[in-house]
Amino acid sequence: MSEKLGSYSLNVFQEKEQELQRLKTQANVFLEQEKKIWIQSGLNSNMEVLDVACGCGISSSELSKLAFAGGVTGVDINPELLEIAKFNQKLEKINNLRFQEGNIYDLNFLGQEIFDFVYARFIFQHLFEPMKALNNIYNVLQPGGIICLLDIDDAWFTLYPEPSNLTSFCQMSAVVQKEKGGDRYVGRKLNTYLKNAGFIDVQTSIYTLSTDNISMKDFLDLSVRFRSEFMPLSSREAIDKELQEIYSLTTIPNAWGVVGIFITTGRRS
Ligand SMILES: C[S@@+](CC[C@H](N)C(=O)[O-])C[C@H]1O[C@@H](n2cnc3c(N)ncnc32)[C@H](O)[C@@H]1O
Repeated sequence: MSEKLGSYSLNVFQEKEQELQRLKTQANVFLEQEKKIWIQSGLNSNMEVLDVACGCGISSSELSKLAFAGGVTGVDINPELLEIAKFNQKLEKINNLRFQEGNIYDLNFLGQEIFDFVYARFIFQHLFEPMKALNNIYNVLQPGGIICLLDIDDAWFTLYPEPSNLTSFCQMSAVVQKEKGGDRYVGRKLNTYLKNAGFIDVQTSIYTLSTDNISMKDFLDLSVRFRSEFMPLSSREAIDKELQEIYSLTTIPNAWGVVGIFITTGRRS
């Protein structure tokens, strides 16, 4: 994947299986909350839905159960993830769901104004050109169609007791992600991005995922470990030490962590 495409590529992960597992956990961990959010945002059973950057398709599959009289298209740039998505779809025997390889920067192949609802989960933090992606999404939505974006913002990431290296680790990972075109502070920007792209009725809510809901180890795997994979291999040893310090929280009784999940919705006029 070229640098211009953004900061996420499954292929950079040395521990691919671990990352696949993380994607699955990440897709399931907030699912019940997400379903409520989709319905509150206006998703209904007749809609044609696009899950863009769908990864291994867990959200797509859940969306297809809610849009049971319509249909869901999952699009992702990575064929390996799409194979997993298709395999799971066969297992689950879901008929109103299809997966296609494609790029968020070029959705023309799908056709114009064909979707009622577009979902994009944990992709805007990786995009070099978020406005170009939003313009593309705008064009595949029907007039009145709904967009729903879900993403993070590192300002809403906290651990207590705070490891002494947490701030520097987060700063370093933000710089590395930015160099690859990503943005770990994208959550706060989504509302403005949507309005600038011409969407109306734009609203943002912030939900939390904390160690009240999952174990500290799972929480750190989701929110911290994967960032090290984007960092240069030459500094691997130093990074592993940094991680060790942060993971020491798993042995501290009553340690706590929380991350804010930004959900921004809007409509095409
Ligand atoms: C962090 S994963 C999120 C996957 C899924 N939405 C989820 O929440 O589990 C980011 C996904 O974006 C995909 N991706 C990255 N750049 C893309 C692009 N330019 N167009 C489409 N998909 C892209 C990756 O292959 C990966 O599946």
